[in-house]
Amino acid sequence: MHSVGSISSDLTKPYLKVEGGRCLSGSLKVSGAKNSALVLMAASLLTKETIELNNVPELTDIDVMTELLLSTSAEVQRTKNQLIVNTRSLDSETLKLPYKLVHALRASFVCLGPILARIGEVQIPLPGGCRIGSRPVDEHIKGLQALGANVTIEGENVIAKTKSPNKKLVGAKINLDYESVGATETILMAATLADGCTIIKNAAKEPEIQDLANFLNKMGAKIQGAGSSTITIEGVNSLKGCKHQVIPDRIEAGTFLIAAAITRSPLTISPIIPEHLSSVLSKLKECGCVFEQSNDELKIIPSKVIQAVDITTNPFPGFPTDLQAPFMALMSTAEGICKIKETVFEKRMQHVGEFKRMGSKINLCSNTAIVKGVKKLHATSLTGGDLRSSAAMVLVSLVAKGTSIVQGLEHLDRGYEDFEKKLNNIGANILRVNNSDGKKFSFYKKKSEAKHNFSSGSEVA
Ligand code: EPZ
Repeated sequence: MHSVGSISSDLTKPYLKVEGGRCLSGSLKVSGAKNSALVLMAASLLTKETIELNNVPELTDIDVMTELLLSTSAEVQRTKNQLIVNTRSLDSETLKLPYKLVHALRASFVCLGPILARIGEVQIPLPGGCRIGSRPVDEHIKGLQALGANVTIEGENVIAKTKSPNKKLVGAKINLDYESVGATETILMAATLADGCTIIKNAAKEPEIQDLANFLNKMGAKIQGAGSSTITIEGVNSLKGCKHQVIPDRIEAGTFLIAAAITRSPLTISPIIPEHLSSVLSKLKECGCVFEQSNDELKIIPSKVIQAVDITTNPFPGFPTDLQAPFMALMSTAEGICKIKETVFEKRMQHVGEFKRMGSKINLCSNTAIVKGVKKLHATSLTGGDLRSSAAMVLVSLVAKGTSIVQGLEHLDRGYEDFEKKLNNIGANILRVNNSDGKKFSFYKKKSEAKHNFSSGSEVA
């Protein structure tokens, strides 16, 4: 046990030691979007031909999705940021996806739609709830039922079968009750190989949906309207292989913009697609940040005094829930009082308690936090409970007086490629202290080492 400030912590797990108070300067490179790459990997199950994905971030979530593809007999070649996938040997017998992998990575549930569309039958474990909320999958299931699938839940498994003799799904009009990202992706992928036309109303409009539709269209799908609330899909008989470059990660980019703002340091961040971050940029402008854009580079020049501004999280193009915790870190250092309201997930305020231990003044009532900025935060030992709150803990530690310890790296490593390395390159002083075997922490084990040896309690994405 080790003591930092007044809090003692169990340091048998890997952690980061973050020195507070350093100014940052220079440029940061944004990796490919995790939430796009994961779903594009699932979409590779729609074709017998080879898919080449570039700009794939090196993350533990990508490791798990790779394992899941391997479990379906796919061939996967992986170098640092490239994946070549061929799923020609997908079995036409009932395909059962392994419980531990689906539980280790909630996003793996989006394999349901492509496998069902391709071979007409699949069994996949229910992904269950997670640390940020209960996260039901009813919209995915209703969508597939509307496309003519027989979907039942038996114990912990979802069993889906097409009803028609040719094993194909059938196009339909689907009105989502909630503009769910995952459900839109499931239906979009499934409908590409259905007989006839599908119209999704109240579809999610996130950039990752647009990236998926662009990818599927390259494979030969006929999709129109992705990025708007109505998507039309004309089913085709088969899809072909293609090459695709994953879009830049807007959430990683937003996290870096907030790192600049919280440390009051001008930084240049690229590649950025500004339209993917419009709500975040407008809130940062309200706080007092100035932007200079040139091609895909964005320079942020924060004011020395950051003003408090209210945010409410919402589906795209609203303020992203994934940047709520990092933004709250920034607001802890702002001038004035603001209101931060989480509307997408019911349990995404667990960072509040950690921030308060650093000296943040926050009152939490249900999913609304009232944050009063303070002049000084002090270093302590913090634990991130999910991916984005772990990143927020690092951001707040960058400005706290003293050296903080941040745990919860099993979450951070799921979604940020080389996080501390990128920040160290621009002047931060963050040291990763590894666990006893001296390796970077990861709950992923190579297929040869262990078959699906995952801790089921830690999934988030
Ligand atoms: C995606 O999750 C992202 N994950 C999340 O990223 C992101 O926070 C979220 O979209 C919102 O932007 C991936 O893309 C892998 P939803 P997803 O379906 O698809 C409810 C990160 O940190 N809902 O739009 O699960 C659900 O419970 C993460 O990278 C239903 O009620 O999001 C939630 O309250 C975490 N029924 C809300 O909708 C359903 O069938 C939004 O979920 C589906 C969802």
